[in-house]
Amino acid sequence: MTQTMNLQINRVTESRLASTDFNNLPFGRVFSDHMLAVDYKDGQWQNARIIPFGNIEVTPALTCLHYAQACFEGMKANQDVHTGDVLLFRPRENAKRLNASAIRLGMPSFPEDLFINYLKELIQLDKNWIPDMEDSALYIRPVLFGSDDFIGVRPSETYRLYIIIGPTGPYYGKPVRVKIEEKYVRAFRGGTGDVKAAGNYAATLHPALLAKKEGFDQILWTDGLSHEYVEEIGTMNVFFIVDGKVWTPALSGSILPGITRDSIMQLFKDRGFEVEERKISVQEIINAHQAGKLEDAFGVGTAATVTHIAELGYRGQIFTLPALETRTASFTIKEELIGIKTGRIADRHGWIDRVS
Ligand SMILES: Cc1ncc(COP(=O)(O)O)c(C=O)c1O
Repeated sequence: MTQTMNLQINRVTESRLASTDFNNLPFGRVFSDHMLAVDYKDGQWQNARIIPFGNIEVTPALTCLHYAQACFEGMKANQDVHTGDVLLFRPRENAKRLNASAIRLGMPSFPEDLFINYLKELIQLDKNWIPDMEDSALYIRPVLFGSDDFIGVRPSETYRLYIIIGPTGPYYGKPVRVKIEEKYVRAFRGGTGDVKAAGNYAATLHPALLAKKEGFDQILWTDGLSHEYVEEIGTMNVFFIVDGKVWTPALSGSILPGITRDSIMQLFKDRGFEVEERKISVQEIINAHQAGKLEDAFGVGTAATVTHIAELGYRGQIFTLPALETRTASFTIKEELIGIKTGRIADRHGWIDRVS
C-alpha cells in the first residue's frame, strides 16, 4: 500500500455553483463539482484522483449489489465564522470507523492519513460549496464497496472508494415522533450494528415505512433479544435527561459508536452533568415519564446534530415529552457543539482539523 499515492486532479470546465439554489438544500440531493475516487486492485490502493462529480459505470454483477459488501461514512465541514477557514470535526474518528467497517466486511482498510489528506484536497477545490447559513454545512459522504465483476459469495478482489460532498441544510427541521420498535430488529450483537455497513440501513427501511404509516418519523430500536432495552434511532444515538441526569445506552456491540454521541457526552460532563452510559430499559423511560422526571429525549448524529424527540410511541400509547422551552440543557449543548464546529467557541478538546 503506497502511503504517498499521487493524487491526479481533473477539474470541471464549468462549475455548477452559480446554478445551485443555496436557499433550497434538501439533505443528500445536491453535490459539488468534484469527487474523489480511488481503486483497489492487485492488493493495493491506486489511481487516486479528483474528477468531476458524475455517474460511474459498474457491472450488474458488482459484488456490493448482490452481497452488500459496502460501507460508508458521514461527516460535515463548516466555515470558521471568524477566519473563513474550512473546519472538519474529528475527521480521524471517521477514518478509523470507515476502516473498522471495512475490516468487519472483509474489505481492505484505507490509510487514515491519506483519507484525511485527499478529503482536504477535495474540500479545498470545492470550498465555495460550503453554505454559510446557520444550521447548514458541507456534508461529506465517503463510500467503500466491493467492485468485482463476479457473482459468488467471497470477498471482492477489487474495491472502490469515493468521497462525494455537497451543501446541506438541516436534516430534520422539527422535533420528531419516534416509535419504540418491538417487532423488527436493526442489529444483533456480533452482527454489523456497530459499524456503518450499508446493509444495516436496508434492514430498517420496511419497519420505517410501517412506522411512518402510523405517523412516526423515526424508530427507536430496542435490543434484538429481549426488546427490553433501547439502543438507537435510525441515524442517531439517543439521549435522555431524567431528573437532571444524562442517560445514553452503553455501546452494546449492536449500536453505532457515534462521534456526536461521544462529543455530546463530553460536553455534558464538562458542564458538571452526571452522564450514565449503561443499559437503559424501555420500562425505566416509561416510569420516568410517569413520575414526571423524563425532562428530555433527543437523538444525536452528524447529519441531525441534536434532534429533539416530541413524542415516544410504545405499545399503542403516546408519551409526550415536555415543551421545548423547558429543555434548555440540550439546546445549550447543541449550540455549544455547533459553536465549536463553526469556530465561534474555542476548541478545547482538539476536535477541529483545519483544511487550509
Ligand atoms: C445508525 C447510526 N447511529 C448513530 C449515528 C450517529 O453517528 P455520528 O455521530 O458519528 O454521525 C449514525 C450516523 O452516522 C448512524 O447511522
